[in-house]
Amino acid sequence: MRRAFNLSQTRSRKSNDCVTDYAGPMTRILVVNGPNLNLLGTRRPDVYGSQSLEDVIALAREAGEVQRIDIRDVQSNSEGALVDAIHGARADCDGIIINAGAYSHTSIAIRDALEAVELPFVEVHISNVYAREEFRHHSHLSALASCVIAGAGTQGYAFAVHHLAAIL
Ligand code: DQA
Repeated sequence: MRRAFNLSQTRSRKSNDCVTDYAGPMTRILVVNGPNLNLLGTRRPDVYGSQSLEDVIALAREAGEVQRIDIRDVQSNSEGALVDAIHGARADCDGIIINAGAYSHTSIAIRDALEAVELPFVEVHISNVYAREEFRHHSHLSALASCVIAGAGTQGYAFAVHHLAAIL
């Protein structure tokens, strides 16, 4: 099951009866944040800005509101938990937005999980990783991503929502 049906109850203008409208399918996106992103707002604000992870998720939700995107989110500092979360998305999500943090540069397990679930995903980096240390220039995820966003700050998560809304 990839799509949730969104049935909303509204009042019929004529009769004031309660009727059930079919408001179209709702798209579900899982936002996955990896290690150290729980520290957003306090960790290197010069690089990652002053918004907390909670603020970032709220930003993504706001970006998805008009297009009726349901945002779920998970953050973990553990590689295995991130792999499990990606596997879980297969059952009920249409796409993934992932900032795997440092695991982007090291984790073949996360890359393989994204490949296995066959969901379109956007890779997000808050900072411009290409303007930083060389070890951040390569990501194991990028070649599989539908879109890669780096250096747009936390706004990158909103751009990612818009991208998935356009292709799903
Ligand atoms: C990051 C960039 C990574 O190199 C780093 O390890 C992070 C955050 C970013 O959002 O810019 O943890 O993914």
